[in-house]
Amino acid sequence: MTDPDVRHVSQPGRVLIFDTTLRDGEQALSRSLSAEQKLHIALALENLGVDVIEAGFPISSDGDFEAVRMIAQRLKTATPCGLARAVAKDIDACGEALRVADHFRIHTFIATSAIHTKEKLRKSYDEIEAMAVAAVKHARRYTDDVEFSCEDAGRTDPDQLCRMVEAAIRAGATTVNIPDTVGYTVPTEFGGIISMLMNRVPNIDKAVLSVHCHNDLGMATANSLTAVEMGARQIECCVNGLGERAGNCSLEEVAAAIHLRGARLGDVHTGIKLNQIARTSALVAKMTNEPVPNHKAIVGGNAFAHSSGIHQDGVLKNRSTYEILTPEMLGFDGNVMHMTARSGRHMVKSTLTALGYPEGSYNLDQLYAKFLQLADRKGQVHDYDLEALLFSMSLEQAD
Ligand code: KIV
Ligand code: ZN
Repeated sequence: MTDPDVRHVSQPGRVLIFDTTLRDGEQALSRSLSAEQKLHIALALENLGVDVIEAGFPISSDGDFEAVRMIAQRLKTATPCGLARAVAKDIDACGEALRVADHFRIHTFIATSAIHTKEKLRKSYDEIEAMAVAAVKHARRYTDDVEFSCEDAGRTDPDQLCRMVEAAIRAGATTVNIPDTVGYTVPTEFGGIISMLMNRVPNIDKAVLSVHCHNDLGMATANSLTAVEMGARQIECCVNGLGERAGNCSLEEVAAAIHLRGARLGDVHTGIKLNQIARTSALVAKMTNEPVPNHKAIVGGNAFAHSSGIHQDGVLKNRSTYEILTPEMLGFDGNVMHMTARSGRHMVKSTLTALGYPEGSYNLDQLYAKFLQLADRKGQVHDYDLEALLFSMSLEQAD
């Protein structure tokens, strides 16, 4: 059977999107999702064009095991995946939960940084490497699609990281993932780690190099995109940037950025259907009970809103003046113009035209003066406020 990763990687510039909303995202929620909710989200992710769906951590609970099994049974085009520590019982639980699918991935991981190996795992580096190699070999008994992650790679000694990646690939890992587990690195530094691996690991071309960035310093998207520029070909991310602490890299941000700036990043593209972003984001927000922040890039309520008069005037003349992507491309209804004291006459006039009041049917100078007084008092002025102003002006004229 042709390995799907090798198939994708042989297409130049194809960046795989590995979604972990149901695993890394879900583990940070205050209330777990039900198996049905997880399935609903998984099917939406598949429809969005996600390549790999990390459906859960089967050893962690019976509920998670069942959800992973249910999702693996239903996916048709996306590859189902489960997480396992580098221990046989976790890998066996993954294999059991996923074997209902024709093709599936087992994702096994172990920490590689000094702080984690010494303080958390209390093992020597040689012991860690032996566990990683044994885990990858064990997972290969279940599937030819095995991903290995070096947890806290962002803070791992470079020589040890190269050694671990080489060993994991030799043991049979087809994807090697480099997590910035605590969101510690800055883009040039993280990109440097990826280019070091590309240059120093002799068998790196035998696996897909993946990245998994957390957002503790707000760098997750920048780090992931810099990694792609340096040769990474899988990004791990969550819808709406959900995840531990400040969250994981946000799926919609990397998908939109690669769509718009893929040429700048080395002629790359993803399989994400951009016009499904709005509805997937809304579904995840509703099911997880985690509202999308208003100013969140790409999917926030304000992401396509224009408030200042200068911006509104520009957008009314040509949307590209202040919109690098259109909301319609992402599946939203359209942009939003906030009428405030910063709005100009052009905005007021075009709103009234859209409401059915043609230019010349009212005195724009008078109306605009009243509009500014109202906006100063009220903040945001709505369509119905403008209509009320027109009505009061017509009464004054009648007097
Ligand atoms: O952040 C992390 O390191 C992880 C691993 C399990 C991939 O989530
Ligand atoms: Zn993570």
